[in-house]
Amino acid sequence: MAGDLRIGSAWTRTVSFRFDGETLTAREGETLAAALYAQGRRTLRISRDDSGPRGAFCFMGVCQECVVSIDGRLTEACRTPVHNGLVVESVR
Ligand code: FES
Repeated sequence: MAGDLRIGSAWTRTVSFRFDGETLTAREGETLAAALYAQGRRTLRISRDDSGPRGAFCFMGVCQECVVSIDGRLTEACRTPVHNGLVVESVR
């Protein structure tokens, strides 16, 4: 894939998932935040405080800026492994 920023992507299996209705691919075992970041998806939610865009910042479960909705549950994208068929929505 052109623009793919992943290192070592040749030795892992490709899986597909959906983000806001769009089908994307990821490498099996990487986090959802890493998969979205690698494909240029920086906005994962909109702040309720200032209506500004928010996205992964710490990538280790501390900042809570990467919260997304999976099956109606809010969860941290940086602590969620991608799997085939995962359906994710940004938080608005
Ligand atoms: S990027 Fe900070 S909690 Fe996920």
